[in-house]
Amino acid sequence: TTEIHPGIKRGAFSQLTDADVSAFEAIVGGDHVIKDADEVLSYNIDWLRICRGQGQLVLRPKTTEEVSAIVRHCNKRRLAVVPQGGNTGLVGGSVPLFDEIVISTSRMNSLLSIDPVSGVLVAEAGCVLEQLDREAASQGLMMPLDLGAKGSCQIGGNLATNAGGLRLLRYGSLRGTTLGLEAVLPTGQVLDCLTTLRKDNTGYDIKQLLIGSEGTLGIITKAAILCPARPKSVQLAFLGLDSFQAVLDTYRLARRSLGEILSAFEFIDSESMRAVKKNLGLSCPLGEHSFYVLAETSGSNETHDREKLDGFIESVMSMDGCATDGTVAQDAGQFAHLWSLRERIVESLLVDGYEYKYDVSLPLADIYRLVEHMRTRLDGRVIRTAGYGHLGDGNLHLNFTTPKFDAKVLELIEPHVFDWVRDRRGSVSAEHGLGLKKSQYIRHSKADFAVRVMAEVKRLLDPNGIMNPYKVLPDE
Ligand code: FAD
Ligand code: MLT
Ligand code: ZN
Repeated sequence: TTEIHPGIKRGAFSQLTDADVSAFEAIVGGDHVIKDADEVLSYNIDWLRICRGQGQLVLRPKTTEEVSAIVRHCNKRRLAVVPQGGNTGLVGGSVPLFDEIVISTSRMNSLLSIDPVSGVLVAEAGCVLEQLDREAASQGLMMPLDLGAKGSCQIGGNLATNAGGLRLLRYGSLRGTTLGLEAVLPTGQVLDCLTTLRKDNTGYDIKQLLIGSEGTLGIITKAAILCPARPKSVQLAFLGLDSFQAVLDTYRLARRSLGEILSAFEFIDSESMRAVKKNLGLSCPLGEHSFYVLAETSGSNETHDREKLDGFIESVMSMDGCATDGTVAQDAGQFAHLWSLRERIVESLLVDGYEYKYDVSLPLADIYRLVEHMRTRLDGRVIRTAGYGHLGDGNLHLNFTTPKFDAKVLELIEPHVFDWVRDRRGSVSAEHGLGLKKSQYIRHSKADFAVRVMAEVKRLLDPNGIMNPYKVLPDE
């Protein structure tokens, strides 16, 4: 790791030996123990290309039993591990910092069952989200979450980060849609909470500890997810607006006039739009505006939904100071293109060079104030300050780019941006998690006593601290 918390020291873990490697080969088979430095490299580098660990070994188990045997061995030998799914995490949680062993779930990719009546899907942790959604579609269902990384992120990684995504506003968080899960705890024991029941008030809901734990409390191996019916009609409006107040007014109107069929409400600022246009060559069907909004509806009756959407657009256009321009996707190609303008912003920013990424929750009225405040603070030092996100969830993605890492820029951003968010009782991690990058700021959004309880839970489940060390909890 380069600039992220250079002060962190390697924990008192054992060093990997040839005998350990032989033990792993006996568990997963030689072909699934990766030692070749070139092959191991991609597992050491995160998606943003900011964090780079020094792991020397990657294990690719196929079954829960294999994961359990690996973890049991690591716990006995005090070898640190890092669980890895699709490696699309944005906070440095999925890669080693030092020489942690990577346990990849990629081969655990079987869909176990889908019940078309109840809508419950049971899958292994390594199933890729987009593939699960395709399987769900074949039964008239959909996965309750969708995100730009769907082509490579895995359901285990989604659960471990409690990923939000583009339609949380409608379908809720994975904390609600996950009915059960199975995990291997840091001692190697298998925690079987893989129920498929809607209701199960038998004491503490232990699976919730694993959801959002970012690989620090165990390795999720299977999950049961409640899938909603796939909507028969999906409509998408794309609007151009000239002030953030207009974005808020439009959201209010969307909630009122689209009601239960509103399935996404995302905003993009002009700087983010410039990045997708310039860096990825995508075209925007509207002219220059300070803001753009994607408002999506999902329902069961196309005529009814279209009528509602047209009515909404008409009201927005006629309301003084609201949207000034707009279009509606006419076919699947336009629908995908409009969504790509939003989903590919993160990728477009990376083209600038180095991306400083923040993911915060704030009261709606403060969301764009933070972007403007930081833009002024960093004036002349960055290529761009870009703000976009899941407006309906009060979730801003705030990003700065420079051609390469600039320590002075980072110093101007942190801890200032976190303090600003704390002072408004926001969250320093809305949906991406704390990982390595934000663990030192956990107290900005969580009470000291709550952090102490978290540390106690960690000690209870992971007495030797082998499971994804240096992540989530602050280094103390
Ligand atoms: P990884 O990156 O491999 O791991 C993420 C964390 O989970 C790590 O701490 C890892 O140790 C842990 N982990 C992984 N698998 C397991 C397991 N089986 N058991 C226990 N721990 C595990 N996030 C959002 O919330 N909303 C978005 O809209 C969104 N969009 C994204 C778009 C793009 C283009 C990208 C690159 C990322 C986006 N993300 C988003 C980040 C998000 O965290 C991930 O995409 C996804 O949830 C991580 O899944 P993964 O399989 O890649 O996990
Ligand atoms: C998104 O909403 O696009 C993702 O969370 C990734 C990002 O921060 O851009
Ligand atoms: Zn997001």
